[in-house]
Amino acid sequence: MNTPLAGLRIVVNAGPTFEDIDPARYLGNRSSGKMGFAIADIAARRGAEVVLVAGPVHLPSPAAVLRVDVRSAAQMHQAVMDALPCDIFIGAAAVADFTPRAALDRKLKKQPGQDVLVLELIKTRDILAEVAAHPQRPTLVVGFAAETNDVAAYARSKLERKGLDMICANQVGLPGCGFESDDNALLVIDGSGERPLGPAPKHALAASLLDLISARLRKDTA
Ligand code: PMT
Repeated sequence: MNTPLAGLRIVVNAGPTFEDIDPARYLGNRSSGKMGFAIADIAARRGAEVVLVAGPVHLPSPAAVLRVDVRSAAQMHQAVMDALPCDIFIGAAAVADFTPRAALDRKLKKQPGQDVLVLELIKTRDILAEVAAHPQRPTLVVGFAAETNDVAAYARSKLERKGLDMICANQVGLPGCGFESDDNALLVIDGSGERPLGPAPKHALAASLLDLISARLRKDTA
């Protein structure tokens, strides 16, 4: 068996987060978890010890992966921090940037004559940036960026602002790619340049991305 990642511990997060408003409602997004699950699956097949922190998705666990299920951004943050230290962190999850200040314990009721509802949202913790700044920083921290426009420029600014080694940009809104679909297209950006991957099935992209990550790791640790 080909096990180029044997001996490495890799933490991947995947899927959306759900931010509860009340017992009946939440704020979520369209991430299915397929991209992150494909990465976890291929990494485990290549011999890595893999922890997969999964938001609320409807996907079976890849074989030989330790899966930790979470719901909210705060729970995902805790589960990722608990999974450190690791050699490589890959942040493929679509983590909510904002969450309701407090989840209500009773269903929010419309008031007579009410036409507008204002929800107060507060910023969540940035899991990826915290992993990159952690005292036990992984050797490689790889982020994703989902953008509708100026994809490369926004991704590059996230790479720098969050202190990442590599970022995989994908365009939201392209038919058959990105959120929910089985296929995707990535622009992988690091200090040495840009590399387009795909369009291709998410498992094939995960394999190509892990090839790039392995090559980068070999270069950085040579
Ligand atoms: O799950 P699928 O349906 O297969 O779709 C895959 C995908 C489109 C969700 C995936 O390829 C992807 O792009 N994931 C990142 C989506 C996203 O939230 O991007 P962002 O640009 O908002 O965030 C940038 C990075 O910061 C991401 O790595 C994100 O995980 C991370 N982040 C963001 C906010 C936060 N509070 N904590 C974080 O760690």
